[in-house]
Amino acid sequence: DAGKGEYDHYMLKEINSQPTALSNTIEGRIEDGEVAFEELPAGSFADVETVQFVACGTSYHAAMYSGQLLRAAGIPTEVLRASEYEATSGPVDENTLVVAVTQSGETADTLDAVRTATARGARSLAVTNVVGSTAAREADDAIYIRAGPEVGVAATKTYSSQAVTLALLTQRLAADVPTATPADDRDAMLETLADLPEHVETVLETTTAEQLAEETLDSTSYFFIGSRLGHSVALEGALKFKEITYEHAEGFASGELKHGPLALVTDETPVIAVLTGSGVEKTKTNAIEANSRGAPIIAVGPDDNPLADVADAKLSVPETHPVWAGLLANVQLQLLSYHAADLLERPIDKPRNLAKSVTVE
Ligand code: G6P
Repeated sequence: DAGKGEYDHYMLKEINSQPTALSNTIEGRIEDGEVAFEELPAGSFADVETVQFVACGTSYHAAMYSGQLLRAAGIPTEVLRASEYEATSGPVDENTLVVAVTQSGETADTLDAVRTATARGARSLAVTNVVGSTAAREADDAIYIRAGPEVGVAATKTYSSQAVTLALLTQRLAADVPTATPADDRDAMLETLADLPEHVETVLETTTAEQLAEETLDSTSYFFIGSRLGHSVALEGALKFKEITYEHAEGFASGELKHGPLALVTDETPVIAVLTGSGVEKTKTNAIEANSRGAPIIAVGPDDNPLADVADAKLSVPETHPVWAGLLANVQLQLLSYHAADLLERPIDKPRNLAKSVTVE
């Protein structure tokens, strides 16, 4: 298939195209040290008091990531699974911004959640990859992530581009919303974003994920753990792994491992620990707990991470701002999933029972 170029699968092509996709995502989004969305001039969010993210699957994990940044800026924020919107949404009004995070812009659960929120008076914003999609057309405003077309059912480059776009959106909201407090390290965060495509390139060139996938292939289950920003990265790592390998994988908040899942831990259940950003000490403590029950530890993070001396294996990411480091860890986890699925000869681009876009509720 010419569309795959030199790659065996679209998924691998899309993983490898992330430096380019991210460069497109970032292009023009920071001007004179401020976040710029040509679609929404500065001050557009001055009336916003609360924010709700609604999303499914991988997009939900990107929403979780940015939801945390928004809460840190003092903006009351809910991150809701679109399919459970009715049961989980707090009150909304015209000062609520509901952000639909949907790569395709066509996911029925997400569209339904936005329709419910807007019927209750909320203002809506679609963050999507597809120009002219239903979400983009129906929402009051739309921001495009500009990742380029994604063919593989398992989302990869669109996750990275969503997470970056949403992180920028959070900084923009923090600037516009009168009651918000922009992060102390906001300038460093925005300045270091320009290096992200190059850091992803480094990960792609130096990764040991294929070897590690081979070494761990006989495992019974794979547990992904992370804390704070690393929590959503762990959830996304586990989702990707189960989607394409058909192996049992679960993601947990690091501190939750001891509240149940630890009963499943043996020497055949690798614990993949996301060690980027804050929360790494909690991840360390809980990973060591699993390790003392025999679980091999795979440390995903910078080389000087707190598990460096204990881990059985590592997946390295370059040093950068903590907000971007989590996205580099995610690229390593994408590669781990891909290589495990490839060794197991799974139909990587079209996993059984899954669809790129689910248009039924
Ligand atoms: C499907 C796909 C997932 C995706 C989810 C949300 O379930 O298999 O990979 O994350 O839909 O898709 P969206 O287009 O709304 O981001």
